[in-house]
Amino acid sequence: MRARFLMTALIGAGVLAAHSVPAQAPSTDAQINAIVQSILAQMTLAEKLEYVSGTGAWDIKPLPRLGLPQIKASDAGLGVRLSNPVGVAYPAGPALASTFNADRAKQMGVGLGLETRLSGFQQIAGPGLNMYRTPFSGRAFEYLAGEDPFLGAVLGAAQINGIQSQNVWADAKHYIANEQEVNRFNLMETVSERALREIYMVPFESAVKNANVAVVMCGFQGLNGANPVCESHAAIQQTLKNEWGFKGFVESDYAALKHTLPAAVAGVDIERPSANIFSPGALGALLANEQLSQATLDDKVRRILGRLVAYGFIGGVPAATGESHPPFAERAALDVAREGIVLLKNEGQLLPLRRETSRNIAVVGKLATGAPPTGFGSAHIAAARYISEIDGLRQIAGTGANIVLLDAVTLDPARSAWTTPSGASGVQAQYYANPTWSGAPVLTRVEPMINLDTSGGAPQSGDYRGPVYGGGGTAQPASVRWTATIRPTVSGAHVFKARANGAVRLYINGQLVMDNGDGNPLPGNVIPPTIPVNARVMLQAGQTYNVQFDYSARPGYIAVFGGFLGAQLSWASLQAPPNLSGFDAVVVAAGHSAEYEGEGFDHPFTLPEFQDELIANLSRANPRTIAVLHGGTGFDMQGWIDGVGAALHAWYPGQNGGQALAEILFGDVNPSGKLPITIERSITDNPTYANYPQASNDLNFSAMTYTEDIFVGYRGFERSGRRPLFPFGFGLSYTRFNYGALSVSPGIAAGSGRVAVSFDITNSGEVAGAEAAQVYVAQSGSAVPRPVKELKGFAKVFLQPGETQRVTVYLDQRSLAYYDAARNAWVTEPGAFDILVGASSQDIRLRGQLFNLFRSVTNTRVSNPLPAPELVRLGPVHP
Ligand code: BGC
Repeated sequence: MRARFLMTALIGAGVLAAHSVPAQAPSTDAQINAIVQSILAQMTLAEKLEYVSGTGAWDIKPLPRLGLPQIKASDAGLGVRLSNPVGVAYPAGPALASTFNADRAKQMGVGLGLETRLSGFQQIAGPGLNMYRTPFSGRAFEYLAGEDPFLGAVLGAAQINGIQSQNVWADAKHYIANEQEVNRFNLMETVSERALREIYMVPFESAVKNANVAVVMCGFQGLNGANPVCESHAAIQQTLKNEWGFKGFVESDYAALKHTLPAAVAGVDIERPSANIFSPGALGALLANEQLSQATLDDKVRRILGRLVAYGFIGGVPAATGESHPPFAERAALDVAREGIVLLKNEGQLLPLRRETSRNIAVVGKLATGAPPTGFGSAHIAAARYISEIDGLRQIAGTGANIVLLDAVTLDPARSAWTTPSGASGVQAQYYANPTWSGAPVLTRVEPMINLDTSGGAPQSGDYRGPVYGGGGTAQPASVRWTATIRPTVSGAHVFKARANGAVRLYINGQLVMDNGDGNPLPGNVIPPTIPVNARVMLQAGQTYNVQFDYSARPGYIAVFGGFLGAQLSWASLQAPPNLSGFDAVVVAAGHSAEYEGEGFDHPFTLPEFQDELIANLSRANPRTIAVLHGGTGFDMQGWIDGVGAALHAWYPGQNGGQALAEILFGDVNPSGKLPITIERSITDNPTYANYPQASNDLNFSAMTYTEDIFVGYRGFERSGRRPLFPFGFGLSYTRFNYGALSVSPGIAAGSGRVAVSFDITNSGEVAGAEAAQVYVAQSGSAVPRPVKELKGFAKVFLQPGETQRVTVYLDQRSLAYYDAARNAWVTEPGAFDILVGASSQDIRLRGQLFNLFRSVTNTRVSNPLPAPELVRLGPVHP
């Protein structure tokens, strides 16, 4: 479906209860265990050995003899991917994190769970709970924790409760330490036990203790000697199961397992997608020679059955209803986008745009057209319905507004102007039956643009089906040569962008300006993306240039998950068009998309396509330039941030992101997103720079030590004293909030007592808005190195102009504690702790103190990342 009209009606806002599914299943552990035991007792050894591997797809095998149905799962971190049509495309993980709002996490969880259930699935392979530690991370867009474990502990558990309220299993992934993609099937990571416990494990610990998550997916990477981490007995059996009391089952990431016995003993309960390492033969042999105990095998089966019983799946599961895109889910995607977009800069109150004075708006960038972008990989959702950013602007700006896309500075194959060698509009295409453009072409024709799609889908500019190069799969042309002339309208740097599943060469006036060798399918990547190649070329206005673009297909690329088969070429100016200064505002949609960011590969810190230069040039020509960034990470903004009038990080805002963005730009929605990450001035400032200085996809990159230890993100910046460009927790609003009247009560903490941190927030500006207030705890003079401060509470409040609200956030001993590896316990030292309340990690408004009376040592079973009074914010927990 194409772009559509904005959602205006307030459908189903916040109605969690409306979609709660009454539990028909037994709800106490004793009841569940009794039923499980009776089923287990009837299973033969052969049936048990079969049960601990998947069906080959996402499912758990049926066992009709005992009334066990097939359990179907779908990837659904950011939208239900396997339903038909695909489900609602939600904003990316960091957008949810930017809301600093457990209600939005619950709402999105309910939406996801509801759609999963309506489409006949029982499990979601998500959410992603890994941490943000480097802007190179290919999968940061999937993860909802940002760089703070407390934030992840709240939002992850809330989203899981929302999903599981729909009687659908959530699956916390990827356990543990999947913070980068480089060499993901073999990288051996070394991470201290303290960093694991204080940072990386916390969202998972909360998912287990505060949301009773049904499934945990162990990851691909190696950790502390176990490769993959799925074979880490310490992480899975000991920590997750024995210490945290995880009741569900552990599944392997897809084909992650390498060795049968270590994986079985470490605590993996089911191999996905199918029996490879956990084949009945391999497991049976280990049982026979007593390397594996019957009790270990039974525990795996028992854990899986336990979740079937707890969710009432014995005897059958609900069928698909045929209903898709329920209003509740649509609304959830919109609400998260509205609260998740972060306003980073607003010079001279350029924003919000006023309708009376903002009549002519220039839009730049392909990302503003079509479905709002998202990342590549198993979380990729090709939105079935959407509001593009330019359509959102057109509809919100109202009648009479002139919102124009500037083709000359927009890299889009459909907007690049070509003239054939004979003077007609278009390009001349010559198709060859060999990979080397040799001999006579088998087909010559004029095409309107260079946009050949060979994936078998609807062709956009040609559907040549010639001899197959390299054999197998979809028929592809062996090689193609396109020739045309172009006539730039401005002088200076231009960019040419090619995206192709193979080798490309670009000649301008006979000079080679682009050569990607033999193509760039990433080695060892099972889901290889099709990453574009860009060239920067100086051109003169009014001159005619001959362009020759050669493409030769290669195997090893895919058309799914956001990939692409075929060849595209576009060109655009990096210089501002002469009339740019006449526009009331210029909106540039920049950053990443599935073309540059996603699963299985890491990416550079710099913006692609020479966008730095483009944004700087546009803002020089028109200071009312608004940069809208897309992607799952921070970017290098040094080259242009001082010059732009305004900047926003829109992450991947989901299918309704075009509406949310336009509402924010025009002030119909007051931005309230806060950065869940630190954005550095220079990559050298990032605390992980020492161990991961440059994005890499090198298969020889075999080991990485998290040398920054617990000092990741703002914890590292504050220790080194390096000033970030935008600090953790930062985000602007169209109103002002004043903080006051802090009380810390009781001011003396001891043992299991809770401390209430209360303060007033006043909206002292002219418009309504929401503030995410943050509570940090700081201890000086500790016996161990501690971060300057750590987030231990937050609250989001919506206030009318002039309104004041008293906010209370709770702390307990864990809020003050560090993890002591020698004791395997959480330790709180006696002494003074500073309680810092602020609008960001660098904007502390109120300071109080708390005195902790006694040393307390709490074991890892009992200790909870969230204080008990905060748990009510997370919604009901599924038994
Ligand atoms: C990813 C998982 C995903 C699975 C199934 C793997 O490559 O790491 O996150 O759930 O594929 O698509």
